[in-house]
Amino acid sequence: MAASLIDGAALSRQVLGEMRTQAAALSAAGVRPGLAAILIGADPASEIYVRNKTRACEEAGVHSELHRFASDCSESEVIDLIARLNADINIHGILVQLPLPRQLNTQRILQTVRPEKDVDGFSWVNLGALVAGGPALAPCTPLGIMTMLEREGIEIEGRDAVVIGRSVIVGKPIALMLIARGATVTVCNSKTRDLGLYTSRADIVVVAAGKPGVVNGAMLKRGAVVIDVGINRLPNGKLAGDVDFDSAAAVASRITPVPGGVGRMTVAMLISNTVNAARQIAAAAGAR
Ligand code: GUN
Repeated sequence: MAASLIDGAALSRQVLGEMRTQAAALSAAGVRPGLAAILIGADPASEIYVRNKTRACEEAGVHSELHRFASDCSESEVIDLIARLNADINIHGILVQLPLPRQLNTQRILQTVRPEKDVDGFSWVNLGALVAGGPALAPCTPLGIMTMLEREGIEIEGRDAVVIGRSVIVGKPIALMLIARGATVTVCNSKTRDLGLYTSRADIVVVAAGKPGVVNGAMLKRGAVVIDVGINRLPNGKLAGDVDFDSAAAVASRITPVPGGVGRMTVAMLISNTVNAARQIAAAAGAR
């Protein structure tokens, strides 16, 4: 293996430690940051993600509460709860765990969350601010990737970056963030005819395709930085990313593992967004 690992577990511990200090300072000033998570249905992966988020809150001294709905709940029940949480002075972050059951309109629900409490960064106000380069609560996974690149001292300006995936959660926002930092960005998707054509010239490759093995070492430029966003459960029960790790690690200079890579950073950024939201909401209330 030529590449060295980018250790998401260690970096996320570092971030959570910083958040613990900041949350304690806010709490001492009378504002304990609080996160409300909404979990609808019984998707096993969502259960695990929400449990990890709740644990991270505990680690950082952030208040957390979990609101559960049965999978056959109505849209108005969820929207009523969000309205109550929007007005709750002890809650600074509201998270609706995705995906939602089919009868629910995801956008209608997400767009009910007050942008100041939208710690997932999925509201149109926050996504629009990301496009325009304004201050925003940004989506957690792309924010986690940028934090990894920055803290590992990986140069972005002037580099060629390829993003595989065009989702609102990862692909589009990470492309915008890399553009803002001066990278030349190409966004590929599942219909891209020759992925290797693009990946083989990239200095930074972000893979968020949701499909194991879409990128392997033969498709990479020597010395590339590889960020694997995928989490796939293989038939043998093991977790794997979207990148064929062994062949990619033989060619890349830096690579994120799965698990222990990007996923850990996503959770840490959720806590960071919650602490920042608490600080901003308190400052706005004080200025009134
Ligand atoms: N499901 C998969 N990723 C995410 C995420 O970042 N936030 C939420 N709320 N749900 C998700």
